[in-house]
Amino acid sequence: MKSTEINYELEKNIEVISQLDDLVGDAVDNILVDPDKCWQPSDFLPDFGDPNIHEEIKLLQKRAEGIPDTVLTSLIGNMITEEALPSYQTYFNMLEGINPERNLLSPSGWVRWSKTWTAEENRHGDLLNKYLYMTGRVDMKAVERTIHRLLMNGFDPNSGGDPYQAIVYTSFQERATKISHVNTGKLADIAGDSILGRICKQIAGDEARHEKAYKSFMSRIFEIDPSGAIIAFEKLMRKQIVMPAVLMGEGGSNPSLFTQFSEITQKVGIYTSWDYARIIEHLVSLWKIEALTGLDAAASKAQDYLVRLGDRYMRLADRMKAPDEVKLAWLK
Ligand SMILES: [Fe+2]
Ligand SMILES: [Fe+2]
Repeated sequence: MKSTEINYELEKNIEVISQLDDLVGDAVDNILVDPDKCWQPSDFLPDFGDPNIHEEIKLLQKRAEGIPDTVLTSLIGNMITEEALPSYQTYFNMLEGINPERNLLSPSGWVRWSKTWTAEENRHGDLLNKYLYMTGRVDMKAVERTIHRLLMNGFDPNSGGDPYQAIVYTSFQERATKISHVNTGKLADIAGDSILGRICKQIAGDEARHEKAYKSFMSRIFEIDPSGAIIAFEKLMRKQIVMPAVLMGEGGSNPSLFTQFSEITQKVGIYTSWDYARIIEHLVSLWKIEALTGLDAAASKAQDYLVRLGDRYMRLADRMKAPDEVKLAWLK
C-alpha cells in the first residue's frame, strides 16, 4: 500500500474515533467503577495491624500449599503481565486520535477512559503480587527481575498507530485475560484455595466489564465504517494477537521464559490455542462479519478471510500437542 493511502485511511479512522467520544465517556460513567465503590486489593488480604496476623498468614500459606506448581507459575505469569501496566497505558496514549490535545486533564471521553481503565487495571497486579508474596512459595526476586525486564523491553501489539486495530486488539485481549483469570480461579478452587479462587473471579469480573466496553466501541465503528472496521480486524488477525508479556525474557538469562509460561498455561488449560480460536469465533459472530453488506472490494476479501479464520485456528489447535514436559519458573 502506498503511504498516501495509509495516511488517508488513518485520517478517516481518527475522525471516526473522535465521533465515539461521547459513547466512550458514557462507558467511563456507566461501565467503569468509582474508586469509593470499587473493590480494592486490601479487601482480599490479611490486615497487618491485626493481632492475629501471624495466624492469618499461616492460614493463607496453608490454603496456598495445595496449588500445583504449574498453576502457581501460570498465576505468576498472569501477575507479571498485569504489572507491566505502564507499557499498556503508554501504548494506548500513543494511539492516533485518542488524545489530540496531548493533555492528561482533558475532559474528553477517550482521555478519561484511558486513565480510568488503567487505574482499574492497576489493582490486578497489586493484589496478585501481594498475595503471591505472602504464599511464601515464590522467588520474589526472580519475579521482580522479570517485571523490571518486561517494562524495560516494552510491548508492541503490531497495531501501528491505528486506533481501529487497537480497539480490536483490546477487545480480544480483555476477553483472553478474563478467560485466563476465570480458569486460574477454577483451578485454585479445586486445589482448595477458595480465597485465591475469589480473587481470580473478582479480577475476571473487571476484565469482563472492560471487554464489554471495548467490544461496544468496536461495534460502533462497525456501524459507522463497516469496510474500514473489517479491514482493521483482518490486518490485525493476519499479524496474530501478540500477548502483552511476550518480551518478558528478551535480553535476559532465559530468553525462552515467555514460551515456557505459555506452554504451561496451554498444558494446564488456563489459556489455550482453543481459547484463541474461540475468541476469534466470538468476535466474528458478535460483529456479524458474515452478514455485513455494501463492503468495498478489499473489505469483501477481509470478510472471506475472517469468516473462515476461527475454524482454521480450531483445526490448528486440535492438531497441536501440549508439551509433555514443562519448565517451571519463578518458584522457590
Ligand atoms: Fe487486568
Ligand atoms: Fe484488562
